[in-house]
Amino acid sequence: MKKPESPPTRPRSIEALRKATDACRECPLGANATQSVMGEGPLNAVLMVVGEQPGDKEDLTGRPFVGPAGGLFDRAIAELGWNRERLYVTNAVKHFKFELRGKRRMHKTPAQREIDACHHWLEEEIARVKPKAFLALGATAARTLLQRPVAVMRERGHWQEDVAGRRVLVTLHPSALLRGDPEQREAAWANWLEDLSVASDLLL
Ligand code: URA
Repeated sequence: MKKPESPPTRPRSIEALRKATDACRECPLGANATQSVMGEGPLNAVLMVVGEQPGDKEDLTGRPFVGPAGGLFDRAIAELGWNRERLYVTNAVKHFKFELRGKRRMHKTPAQREIDACHHWLEEEIARVKPKAFLALGATAARTLLQRPVAVMRERGHWQEDVAGRRVLVTLHPSALLRGDPEQREAAWANWLEDLSVASDLLL
C-alpha cells in the first residue's frame, strides 16, 4: 500500500481534496469504489457533521448523505429547524466499502486501519472549514474525532472535547435508527432529536 501523502503547508481547496482522495490508494477501498465522496457544504460552516462512510447512493452520486440514512437525517434537521445548507456534511472514510450479494452492494463496516488511513483527509477538510464544533454520527465518526473508542449510547447527547480542545457532540448514526426495533422507533426518534438539539444554539 502507498504511503500517505505528506500534508501540504496550506489547506487545499475542497476540489483539490476531492481529486486527491479519488486517486487515494492508501487502503484498498478506493480500488472498488466508483469515486471518493468528499464533504459538502459552506466553507464557513460552524458545524461539521461527520458520518461513517458513503453508502451505495453516495458512491454513485459523489455526494454525502443522499441515500436512506441521509433522508432520515434531513427529516430530523427539518424538525429541528436547521438548514442543511448551513452544515458541512462529510464522512470519516471517503470511499464506499461493500460486499456483493448478487447484484447488490451491501455496506461493510470499515476496518480500523482503513479509518486510520483516511484520517488525514478529514483533518485536511477540518483545516479548510475550521468549524466551531462537530456532530459525530455513530461510533466510527466519534472514534475518529475523539481518537479513542466511544460507547455511543453512554456518551451521546452532550458536548465533549477532543484532545485538541474541539467540541464534539456524539449521537447515533441514522442507520442505527433505520435498523432499530420498530416498537422502539418513536422513542428512539425522540431521543435522537433531543441529542441533535444540543447543537441547535449554533444554528438557530
Ligand atoms: N452513511 C454515512 O455514514 N455517510 C453517508 O454519506 C451515507 C451513509
